Amino acid sequence: MACTVVVDGFFGDGGKGKIVSYLAVADDVTVCARGGVGPNAGHTVVKEGVTYKLRMVPCGFVNPRTRLLIGPGVTVNPEVLLKEVDELGVEDRLGLDPQCAIIEPRHIEEDRRGHLKEKIGTTGTGTGPCNADRALRVAKMAREVPEFKGFITDVPAELNDALEMEEPVLLEGTQGTYISLYHGTYPYVTSNDVCASAICSDVGVGPTRVDEVVLVLKSYVTRVGAGYLAGEVSMDEAKRLGWDEYGTVTGRQRRAAPFNFELAKRAVMLNGATQIALTKLDILYPECSGASDFGDLDQEAVAFVEKIEDHVGIPVTLIGTGPGVKEIIDRR
Ligand code: IMP
Ligand code: MG
Repeated sequence: MACTVVVDGFFGDGGKGKIVSYLAVADDVTVCARGGVGPNAGHTVVKEGVTYKLRMVPCGFVNPRTRLLIGPGVTVNPEVLLKEVDELGVEDRLGLDPQCAIIEPRHIEEDRRGHLKEKIGTTGTGTGPCNADRALRVAKMAREVPEFKGFITDVPAELNDALEMEEPVLLEGTQGTYISLYHGTYPYVTSNDVCASAICSDVGVGPTRVDEVVLVLKSYVTRVGAGYLAGEVSMDEAKRLGWDEYGTVTGRQRRAAPFNFELAKRAVMLNGATQIALTKLDILYPECSGASDFGDLDQEAVAFVEKIEDHVGIPVTLIGTGPGVKEIIDRR
């Protein structure tokens, strides 16, 4: 593994946090850089029984050796970032690009009223209005925030230096393919493209540098906010199936539907994915809870994995069987 990008193939909330944190440790990555939109994302990491909900710091923090970077394409809420850095004690290994756009209180206010709230159902975290200001060339930049002084670094240069030295690098995406501003169900989307090439652009890594694109697909589909969801089940049915989930950032109950093979196939295409990380298989097949060996899966679960591989044409290399970083089958 040299340069690996991790993105979500549905509507976000597929379990990128778990996959990124696993890879950071398993492949002992030198650098983990976050691309994507900003603190509208919530990545959950469970390490030694403790649950972390990260909105800004890259999930690679679980490896104490890993340098943590936030690319210029990301919008940053200084309060959220500084609080996380403090709570995780990562001040000595976090770097922030001077050109990250800063979310200001007015962006949050704007995100919590009018069509953004009523029609789109945004997370209300100010990322969209901040990106709008960036496009208008009036956004405040990370280099203008005195509290960030110790963190400012040239993120693209650091990443490309690491790649030049053939060090393992992990690029962490946020959100999901179908809420991409370009490839999602517009207008019910987030405020930037979030596919693999956009994540590379967010952190300043060129397309020829990428070796692997890991597409995270949850074993069922969830969506928060407005927009079409094929095969959507009722909230009660979701509860019965164990598919009821609640937003990391907003606390809203997510809408749910069965695994969607067509969306998965298109996501593989849009992201140039080379492997699939299938998450939450234990929710569909409780018998495989905690399994770490493919041979321990029962027939039905194996058939599901093989059906996905047949349909999308790339291998399922990682399989999540529980929330913990170690509850995973690694077939790489
Ligand atoms: P925004 O990104 O806050 O502007 O919200 C736009 C749409 O994207 C809404 O439907 C949100 O619920 C959805 N969204 C934004 N971030 C995430 C995420 O990290 N996971 C899932 N949905 C998200
Ligand atoms: Mg999430």
